[in-house]
Amino acid sequence: RQHSVYVTRNVPESGIQLLTSAGLKVTQWKHDAAVPREELLTNISQVDALFCLLTDKVDSELLDAAGGSLKVIGTMSVGHDHIDMEECKKRGIRVGFTPDVLTHATAELTVALLLATSRRLMEGVQAAKDGSWGTWKPTWLCGPSLQNSTVGILGFGRIGQQVAKNLGGFDVGKIIYTARTEVASCAQRVEFDELLLQSDFLIICCALTDSTKNLFDKNAFLKMKKSAILVNTSRGPVVNMDDLAEALENKEIAGAGLDVTVPEPIPLDHSLLKLNNCVVLPHIGSATNEARSAMSRLTAENIIAALNNQKMPAEL
Ligand code: GLV
Ligand code: GLV
Repeated sequence: RQHSVYVTRNVPESGIQLLTSAGLKVTQWKHDAAVPREELLTNISQVDALFCLLTDKVDSELLDAAGGSLKVIGTMSVGHDHIDMEECKKRGIRVGFTPDVLTHATAELTVALLLATSRRLMEGVQAAKDGSWGTWKPTWLCGPSLQNSTVGILGFGRIGQQVAKNLGGFDVGKIIYTARTEVASCAQRVEFDELLLQSDFLIICCALTDSTKNLFDKNAFLKMKKSAILVNTSRGPVVNMDDLAEALENKEIAGAGLDVTVPEPIPLDHSLLKLNNCVVLPHIGSATNEARSAMSRLTAENIIAALNNQKMPAEL
C-alpha cells in the first residue's frame, strides 16, 4: 500500500522531493499562510504521516481527527512545545524534529540581534533615512560593548553553546550559563539568580517548558542590571511581554531584542513596538537558505524512516 503524507505549508522543495522519491503520496497546503484548522482536521484523516510546522498545534483534537492511521509526525522545527508528546506516545505515534541543522543559523541570528540591540542599529538606520543624523555626534547612539562584558546564557544546549562559540572573537570578559546539567566548556555554570544579577547581556536559548514559562517577569527584571540587555531567540512565553515593556519603560533594564513574541505576530499596537530600546524580529532564527532546506530534508527523512519502521535521524 502506498503511504500518504500531509504537508501543512509551502516548504523548501528539497524535502518534498525526498517524500515523492520515496513513493509517498504527498498532499500539501501550498501557501505561505498557515493552513486553516478545519482544513487541517479534514486533511489529516486517513494519512500515514504529518509534515508540520511550529504554528500547527498538535493536540488530542488533531490526533483524534487523524482517525488511527497516523504513524509519524515530522515537525520542521527544533522546538516542539506545539506538540502534545504525551498524547502522541499514548497513541504510538512517533515524532521527529530538526535539531543540529539550524544550530548555526539560529546562533548567528542571536548574535545579530544582540548587536542590533546593543549598538542601536534600528535607531541608526532610521536616523540615516529621516535626516536626524545632522552631524557626527560624540555622545549619540552609544551602547555597551561586548568587550570585557559578562554574557549570560539561559539554556546551554546546542544553540546556547554555539552562541558562546560565536562570541569567541569579541573578547568578552566572561560567559556564564544556567542549565539543568553541567556542560564541559570554558563558560561557568551559575544559578538563575546569579545569571540575572551578573549578566550585562542575557541571552535566552532554552526550550519552552513548564519550568521556563514566564521565567522573565517583573521580579526577574528587578534583579537584572539597569544596564542589561536581554535577547530572546527561543520561545516567546519564556518572557512576560507586559512586564518586559514596563521594565524597559521604567529603565529597569536597558534594552531587549526579541525574535519571538506572544502571540506571533506581535499585535501592532503592543507597547514593545513603540519603544526605541526594543528590537523585534518576526521569528527568523533559522532563516538561512541552508538551514531551511536542511530542515525540510530532515523532516522528510524522519517521516520516511518511521514509515519504514527504521531508526529516525532525529526522533523525540
Ligand atoms: C524555530 O523556532 C524552531 O523551533 O525550529
Ligand atoms: C535547543 O533545542 C537547542 O538545539 O539548543
